[in-house]
Amino acid sequence: MPSDSTTDSALDSSLESTLKSTTPPAATLLPIVVLISGAGSNLQAIIDAKINDDLPVTIQAVICNRRDAPGLLRAQQAGISTELVEQAQYATREDFDAALQQCIEKYQPALIVLAGFMRILTDAFVNHYRGKTINIHPSLLPAFRGLNTHQRAIDAKVTEHGTTVHFVTQELDGGPAIIQASVPVYPNDNTAKLAQRVLEKEHLIFPLAIRLIAEGRLVYTNNNVYLDNQPLQEPLQYPDP
Ligand code: GRF
Repeated sequence: MPSDSTTDSALDSSLESTLKSTTPPAATLLPIVVLISGAGSNLQAIIDAKINDDLPVTIQAVICNRRDAPGLLRAQQAGISTELVEQAQYATREDFDAALQQCIEKYQPALIVLAGFMRILTDAFVNHYRGKTINIHPSLLPAFRGLNTHQRAIDAKVTEHGTTVHFVTQELDGGPAIIQASVPVYPNDNTAKLAQRVLEKEHLIFPLAIRLIAEGRLVYTNNNVYLDNQPLQEPLQYPDP
């Protein structure tokens, strides 16, 4: 189930020059774990970027909270270790997050990638991995935090919608944004059509954000995001087609 992956030629000059900036790529591979709950198309985009575009990461494990998630099969087909941590097995949210943390620690990741992980995490968990957890959200944050973003965008009659990769903080979908991509919203759109249009952009920007972190160029520290040692004041914008 391959997904699209980006090439430099797809980028406009400003983002392209950012991505090609001076710092050489790190020689080592960043250990990551990917947390999923569902289809895993973003996971697939990361796998494909590693295979096709030398994304400098090693995917230590895919951790899933739903036994029937199709994304588990994608991981297995790629030869990646999988782990199931099911919420039904735990009495409280705190217990679940403690088990999740214990599972993650087995793999010693430098970055935790929430790729469609449909679970609100406790403050304790988020704080433990602060600066080391990123999420992809299907809206142009800060617009439409939370669920059902595509229908809410249609209902709000916005003409532009999209997706954001951001660092995870205690504020739901509120952590500092790294990169965004926009799509048009057409008058005859339905949720499925709009979701598919957004998803195609997600598959492009998620590997880009992971690459910047893996290359040591993008860091979140002391409540600030830095790109090439400069504060990132606004999220990077993936160019319109
Ligand atoms: C994506 O739309 C993502 O933005 C949201 O959940 C969806 C996951 O899709 N957080 P997939 O499982 O990666 O296909």
